[in-house]
Amino acid sequence: MRSLNSILDLGVDELDGLIATAKDIIAHPEAYWDRCAHKKLATLFFEPSTRTRLSFEAAMLELGGSVIGFSEASSSSASKGESVADTAKIVSCYADIIAMRHPKEGAPYVASQAASIPVINAGDGGHNHPTQTLADLLTISREMGRLSNLTIGLCGDLKFGRTVHSLVNALSRYDNLRFIFISPTELRVPDYITEMLREKNIPYEEVIRLEDKLPELDVLYMTRVQKERFFNEEDYVRLKDFYILTAKKMNLAPPDMLVLHPLPRVNEISVDVDDDPRAVYFKQAQYAVYVRMALILTLLNIHVD
Ligand code: NCD
Repeated sequence: MRSLNSILDLGVDELDGLIATAKDIIAHPEAYWDRCAHKKLATLFFEPSTRTRLSFEAAMLELGGSVIGFSEASSSSASKGESVADTAKIVSCYADIIAMRHPKEGAPYVASQAASIPVINAGDGGHNHPTQTLADLLTISREMGRLSNLTIGLCGDLKFGRTVHSLVNALSRYDNLRFIFISPTELRVPDYITEMLREKNIPYEEVIRLEDKLPELDVLYMTRVQKERFFNEEDYVRLKDFYILTAKKMNLAPPDMLVLHPLPRVNEISVDVDDDPRAVYFKQAQYAVYVRMALILTLLNIHVD
């Protein structure tokens, strides 16, 4: 029995294997329709979600399985004081696999220690979001044709943006990557990330202005300022519109640069960018279903040819 807490729980071969399975699912969806017949996914969401929960649920339904769960802590026994560990033990009696999102960093890990079924971290506080990274990797691989030899700019809230932390950890294991971190000083990427890059001799820069770096990028990964992680409203209001990518700014970018965003967006990408063929964030949301299907099959040890 295996869980997914961090993207580092998966080796590069396993990441490549999940991406290959997801691509096979896209090519031959009918071959996967009943692979999870009589299996149940429990989605335990203690924090709001649209894409992650619904794409997990769509993934399990597409595999012929069923879904149970809750979408807010207030409708679970957490509101009566039940611990995450106890909830995980109980849900292990009812389901075959759990996808859990929680505002506390490490909560899905605690659940995985108590559960007798695999637990997938679907986002823990400002820490990690490994399955969003799987969707990001599939998007880059399908739309760019490679995961190595890339200059990737990550822009916005790099401090609290858990998708950024997981994505940098994943990409740092591919060859010839260069990272450009674009953020206001207050929202810089955590030191543990830059320390890891220095240890591995992976080049990175930290800058404030997006426009200066756009011409150099293969991939631009935009993020939302994470309002719910701020301690005071004033700081959020000051920083929330720091970056706004517009169609005009896209003229500075290379003709084949991809724009990704884990979504939801607030103001950081203007809607006039949506029709640009380089904007792949809606495709990215669709790819999330296929890669979550691949992950569910792998964690349930269901053989794929
Ligand atoms: C992200 C998250 O929850 O961290 N959303 C998602 O899962 N696609 C990004 C965000 O909320 O900004």
